[in-house]
Amino acid sequence: MFPESSEILLSVKEISIDLSGRQVLRDISFRLIKGKSLALLGSNGSGKTTLLKLLAGLLEPKSGEICVNGSIGMVFQNPDIALFGTTVEENLAFSLQNLGLSRNEIRARVGETLERFDLLALRSRDILSLSGGERQRISLACALISKPPLLLLDEPFSMIDRKEGRRIAGMVGGEVERGTSVILGTNRFSEVSGYDRFVILGRNSIVFDGDRAGLIQNRDIFHEAGMPIPFELELKC
Ligand SMILES: Nc1ncnc2c1ncn2[C@@H]1O[C@H](COP(=O)(O)OP(=O)(O)OP(=O)(O)O)[C@@H](O)[C@H]1O
Ligand SMILES: [Mg+2]
Repeated sequence: MFPESSEILLSVKEISIDLSGRQVLRDISFRLIKGKSLALLGSNGSGKTTLLKLLAGLLEPKSGEICVNGSIGMVFQNPDIALFGTTVEENLAFSLQNLGLSRNEIRARVGETLERFDLLALRSRDILSLSGGERQRISLACALISKPPLLLLDEPFSMIDRKEGRRIAGMVGGEVERGTSVILGTNRFSEVSGYDRFVILGRNSIVFDGDRAGLIQNRDIFHEAGMPIPFELELKC
């Protein structure tokens, strides 16, 4: 069944991009329904970061069209890209600056976000004094404080330890339950095994787009994309 157009949050039509004279992405098309999680899988250099930057408006496609029905929050591999050298609270308030909220509204929203992301004890700490995992949790809170309908994450766990990674993954899962759509780029299937939808990038184009059942039927697609078949999808005898 085709989704109602009001349910489509993101529509990507035949986008291509060249960087330094080389074609990095070719003819990329997909649509995302509100409140769904999409895993963007691909080996190193397949174009995941480039595609996420295009979706976030940080890069312009050479051709094609991207339509987003609302705002976007983004979490980068390195949290320091999104943070500024002052306190946790100031970083959160800074992420609200373009919304035209009153001082009281900003204070309330910052307080609620500190609580939700378990950051109350860190509220007055200087960002530079925090661990990488704590900084990534803050960058997630900054990306979500303005309540965007779409959250993009680019390898958010690769620079932090497993325990903090699991905690942040749980927070992202909670966001999907609240109705936020999520696109997470990674080359590790284990980080996204429960996602609704999988888009796999091969050498500069999409080689698979479907759900887990489709992926199990087409396991060899991982080899085409230069990735090992995830053990979670291996046939159990
Ligand atoms: N500014 C740039 N100029 C030239 N080439 C670039 C530029 N940015 C990216 N590329 C190239 O585009 C291709 C895709 O890069 P991208 O960073 O999007 O891949 P990725 O899937 O995110 O890889 P990784 O898993 O290593 O993060 C790579 O071959 C990369 O060298
Ligand atoms: Mg990347």
